[in-house]
Amino acid sequence: MQSAVLWLAFALTVCGANLSPPVVKISLDQAPELRWLPLKDLFSKDFLQQAAAQVIDSTVPAWVHQAIKPVVRALERFTPQPYAAEIRGMAALYGSDISDVLLLNFAYEVSAFCSSIVAQDTKGIIYHGRNLDYPHDVLKNLTIDVLFIKNGEVAYRGTTFAGYVGLWTGQSKNKFTVTGNQRDEGHWWDNIISAVLLKYSPVSWLVRETLEGASNFLNAVTQLSEIPIISGVYYIVGGVYPGEGVVITRDRSGPADIWPLDTLYGNWYRVETNYDHWLPTPKRDTRREVAMKALNATGQNNINLHTLYQVLSVVPVCNRITVYTTVMSAAAPEEYTTVVRETCG
Ligand SMILES: *[C@@H]1O[C@H](CO)[C@@H](O)[C@H](O)[C@H]1NC(C)=O
Ligand SMILES: *[C@@H]1O[C@H](CO)[C@@H](O)[C@H](O)[C@H]1NC(C)=O
Repeated sequence: MQSAVLWLAFALTVCGANLSPPVVKISLDQAPELRWLPLKDLFSKDFLQQAAAQVIDSTVPAWVHQAIKPVVRALERFTPQPYAAEIRGMAALYGSDISDVLLLNFAYEVSAFCSSIVAQDTKGIIYHGRNLDYPHDVLKNLTIDVLFIKNGEVAYRGTTFAGYVGLWTGQSKNKFTVTGNQRDEGHWWDNIISAVLLKYSPVSWLVRETLEGASNFLNAVTQLSEIPIISGVYYIVGGVYPGEGVVITRDRSGPADIWPLDTLYGNWYRVETNYDHWLPTPKRDTRREVAMKALNATGQNNINLHTLYQVLSVVPVCNRITVYTTVMSAAAPEEYTTVVRETCG
């Protein structure tokens, strides 16, 4: 607790107006339609409606929005539980058409840019951090840390946006941590088609399922590698034992590549942004190189959640569109920290 307080004080002094998001308890013991109701205490319906409209209008051209409504409604029929019911409950909370809330859940799905890092210190402790970048300021106000409760206990936790039922960032305590980064492949409508025709899952739902079901790091890596999903993605996973860190490059149907930590050969960290790690990055986007340089300067001796946060604060790893930073270590689950960014770039 004391270290969490110190740490937040640190985060506040380095970056000015950074904020920690609200923490919400969502009970999986409640019916899916009702379980997101606690959001009512945090956000007004008007604010949620405006926020949704803002994200949709800037992601989906107006004529497409109209034209795809029937398709999106059809999607509802194919959406697996509990997500369909959670989204229906969310639509009631938003006072919105269910097709808009579904669309939101699919529109975010394809637009997240990110930087994720998994690292191991010289004692063998695993640290995992991420920046989530998305070009909508309104998401800063919608960012929430969620504790998912089952049988009265925290089953897993994660960071998401009010209205969005999937997770791009999460932790199963004393087992593993997961982040997802977008892998640019095709268009968002291809993803909707994969969802409807092939009944594949959105990548952020697989993160949630894995957090809920996987019994350990290896089990999580297997699920995240093999279960079909509607688009490519990078999954970054950290565990609790030395060597338990990996970047999984996903195609829709299975793994394209598995890239573990390899400390014997000096590879004590892995950095993933939004490009296949075996390919060079485009000249205009140096996030990968800048993060590696900062990690090299930090050194394996000095890596911890605090210094990992500093690495994730270096421009342009943290940039104009960075919404939040999370740092976590499954072996020290209470240290999970999310900071909503105000001032990078
Ligand atoms: C969004 O957050 C910013 C800063 O955190 C705050 O100034 C602003 O009032 C918030 N907007 C709403 C609608 O809550
Ligand atoms: C970081 O260090 C590794 C290992 O020594 C080296 O291969 C890599 O080029 C360095 N990267 C940067 C950006 O300094």
